[in-house]
This record gives sequence, structure tokens and C-alpha cells, in this order.
Amino acid sequence: MSDFSWKTHPRPIVALAPMAGYTDSSYRELVKEVCPRVICFTEFTNIDGLLHGNKATIRQVIFNPEKERPIVAQLFGKDPEKFKAAAAFLTEHGVDAVDINMGCPAKKIVSSDHGSALLKDPSLAERIVEATVAGTNLPVSVKMRIGTSCYDEGQFFDFAHRMERAGAQLITVHGRTSKQMYGGSADWEPMHRLKQELSIPVIGNGDICSGADAVEKIGPLDGVMVGRGSFGNPWVFQDIFAALEGTSWEPPTLEEKLTRIERHIELACNFKDEQWGMLEMRKHYSWYIKGLRDASKVRQQLVLTENREEALKLLRDFLSSAVPV
Ligand SMILES: Cc1cc2nc3c(=O)[nH]c(=O)nc-3n(C[C@H](O)[C@H](O)[C@H](O)COP(=O)(O)O)c2cc1C
Repeated sequence: MSDFSWKTHPRPIVALAPMAGYTDSSYRELVKEVCPRVICFTEFTNIDGLLHGNKATIRQVIFNPEKERPIVAQLFGKDPEKFKAAAAFLTEHGVDAVDINMGCPAKKIVSSDHGSALLKDPSLAERIVEATVAGTNLPVSVKMRIGTSCYDEGQFFDFAHRMERAGAQLITVHGRTSKQMYGGSADWEPMHRLKQELSIPVIGNGDICSGADAVEKIGPLDGVMVGRGSFGNPWVFQDIFAALEGTSWEPPTLEEKLTRIERHIELACNFKDEQWGMLEMRKHYSWYIKGLRDASKVRQQLVLTENREEALKLLRDFLSSAVPV
């Protein structure tokens, strides 16, 4: 049994956000190789799929125990009893903590009363946390948004208090309402005030793309969670730790970048197979070359290649002479 605890884990907590279609085991391993102190969350995982033994769902919680610990598995669903069973399954499976998704704003998820729909039904959300806690000895946490259609401080605090009372040991807050989806900018003020209200740790999330962003936004929080800011930039986590701890940090050299991209390709291809890995890498290449002049030209070539060496050569040639737009 894991002895991981949100309460005692060293501060600042810096986490890789759960991101469906991105944070599979290969991506998480890459991030951990660049910055071993990061805590990684899995993609959100459907409790029904997990309990029915759906292969694709089970794959979402597969992790490399040598490299990825502590690993937090994120679940979504709406039936408390199934959360209990899924938490027991994950405990058996060997993860270090269980997180409950109460923030996903996607139509498909919300219309079936999952994800951020739970913010509108605090008593069901409470029962889900209680049931999950009953299914495991591992720490259970909640990831939520600051509201659904608008921000209402009373409702926000009340919901978070209820999660704490139900047994959540950590709350991560994404500083947007569900209605905002991913638009506009995240508001960190509500999280700072929430931190003063709760006894459990609170992590802030939204729009962190550098160490400077983390220093500006963290305030009294226990940590930060980074999602899109890690795309094409796994070094952002080194930058964040250095900035929060006041130590020096050098951005990666071209050689380090290329070595890491090569490793990313290798991890992606090893996770399923070569063909799948090369297809997966297409979305990542775009991020590695984002913001550089003529990136679109090389991107067009990169999406056509199914060969690792060819992809690396294209990237090496491009990155060695690239200039920002
Ligand atoms: C492609 C993508 C997939 C996401 N999938 C999940 C998910 O599975 N579970 C979850 O709680 N949030 C998910 N999110 C939300 C992120 O975890 C995070 O809260 C959001 O992107 C804001 O953080 P950021 O500005 O650092 O990206 C996803 C976001 C993106 C962009």
C-alpha cells in the first residue's frame, strides 16, 4: 500500500494536469524524466469502462511503477457505488491516490451528468466522495472549477467545504467556470480565498506556462497544476520549481530539446506500437515548433512522415536555424 499523502508531500506541489488524449503513460514518463518531482494525474477514466474491463479504459490507468510514482488516477462518473468499486480496483491496481473529475465542461460529459455537472448537485458530489473514500485507503481528491455558468463565492465555498467534510484530502481548482470552457483567462483570486477557508491543501490551475506565471499566481496555495503549458515544453516544470524555490534554471539547449523529442517518440511508440506512436506524435510536433517562423511548413512535412529518423531529421534541420515569429 502506498504511503503517499497530500498533507505531507513536500511543498510546493507541482502537478501535471489530467488531460484526455495527452497524459497517457508515455507523456507522463517523459515529464517525470525531465522533472522527477512532478506529480502526474492520469487522463480522466470512466468508472463504467473500468468496471467492465474495457481495454481502452484500463489502458488509461496503466503506469510505469518505476518511473511515475506518485501517480494519481482520475475518475469520472456519477454513481457513488461504482466510484467505490472503481476506487477499490485502482487501489488493487497500485496507484497512489484517486482524484474525482468535477470540472469537465464537455457537452458529452455534462449532458450525462458527469464532470462539471456535479457542481450543480452538491449532495450527489458529496455521496460520490464518501463512497470513493469508503472504497480505498488511498487519499481521495477532487478537481473542480470555480462555478458552472457564473462565479458565486457562496456556492463555491459551500461546495468545497462539503467535499472536505465528505473526506476529500485535496482540492484542485481550475479558475474558470464551466461556461468559459477554456476561453478567457483563469481567475486565481477565488482559489486564494478558498485556501483560507479550508484545512485541506488546495492546488491552483489555469494558464501557467512558465516559472514566472507560477510565482505570480500561487499566492497562499499549496501548489500549482499545469496542463497546456507543458505541451512541447516538459521543461516548464523545472522552470516552475526553480522560480518557486528561488534557484537558477537554464532553458534546454537545442541538443537537449532534440534528445528529449527523440525520447518522446520512443516512449510513444513503446506504449502501444510504432504506427500508433507516430500518429500520436503529430499533435506533439506542432507544440515543439510552435511560435517559430515557418513552423507550418515543417508541420506539413512532419504529419506525412511515419518514420522516426525522418521526423527527427526534419526537426533537427528546422530547429537548428529556427527564429521566433
Ligand atoms: C486536451 C485537454 C484534455 C483535458 N482533459 C482533462 C481530463 O481528462 N480531466 C480533467 O480534470 N481536466 C482535463 N482538462 C483540463 C485540464 O486538466 C486543466 O484543468 C485545464 O487545461 C486548465 O489548465 P491549463 O491552463 O494549465 O491547461 C483537459 C484539458 C485539455 C486542454
